[in-house]
Amino acid sequence: MIVMGRAILVTGGARGIGRAIVEAFAAGGDRVAIHYRGSAASAAELRDALPGEGHAVVQGDMADPASVRAMVDGAAEALGGLDVLVNNAAMYTTHPVLEVSYEEWQAEWRATLDTNLVGAANAIWCAARHLRDRGGRIINVSSRGAFRGEPRHAAYGASKAGLNSLTQSMAVALAPYGIAVAAVAPGFVATDMARERLESADGPAIRAESPFERVAEPQEVASAVHWLASPLAQWASGAIIDLNGASYLRT
Ligand SMILES: NC(=O)c1ccc[n+]([C@@H]2O[C@H](COP(=O)([O-])OP(=O)(O)OC[C@H]3O[C@@H](n4cnc5c(N)ncnc54)[C@H](OP(=O)(O)O)[C@@H]3O)[C@@H](O)[C@H]2O)c1
Repeated sequence: MIVMGRAILVTGGARGIGRAIVEAFAAGGDRVAIHYRGSAASAAELRDALPGEGHAVVQGDMADPASVRAMVDGAAEALGGLDVLVNNAAMYTTHPVLEVSYEEWQAEWRATLDTNLVGAANAIWCAARHLRDRGGRIINVSSRGAFRGEPRHAAYGASKAGLNSLTQSMAVALAPYGIAVAAVAPGFVATDMARERLESADGPAIRAESPFERVAEPQEVASAVHWLASPLAQWASGAIIDLNGASYLRT
């Protein structure tokens, strides 16, 4: 059998932005391992609908180190190696500092950092062993909130600021092994994660944050991730690319 395309692992690939990223790589002729935690049916349905052959589904909880290791190694086994890791899976919870109990505050911080930051770091540790010496790429899906602040979702904002730092550390650490590491930092994107806020009374004001007066579609994030994995994007290693429709301009 002739194996075509690169081997791509997308965490949280069954829904939202991750799903659009999976579709972008498959449309470009790559083989994709779709990671999911709870969305088993969506992951299987997506795998079966993708163009091309050799796609796989892998399950795992990003907050569980053993599960992450089994998931990454399982993806490499199913795809015959790994060329690209996309750390996309994340959780986003509301925990206003003066409204939640001390116990709730701690639980939210622990779960969010374990999933969004330590989970991504663990996936990098596991994937780097497969990606080295084959022009590998790691792309982390961060957030505008890392820069702008997240007053009601502080653990989320901190997890993404940590992910940006992790991106830059790994860009330097892994370049000698031919691995480029970059991040994208979207503002609001029309997915399940943002649905409640976009459908609330805040929706119009959220859309008005951008002079385009809308939020992003998942495909607009996916196209940047796909480009960061392209041959001529190695020089973007260490970059954190804003994708926010000019809603937040950092200097
Ligand atoms: N939507 C936005 O406005 C926005 C803005 C900026 C950045 N982002 C970032 O974009 C990425 C994708 O977000 P989205 O909007 O597509 O989110 P979403 O629709 O809520 O999907 C979240 C994904 O993360 C996975 N996930 C959550 N907790 C997990 C865990 N403990 N272990 C494994 N997988 C887990 C889910 O998997 P299952 O469904 O299989 O459980 C799902 O695929 C995230 O990193 C998010 O922070 C989103």
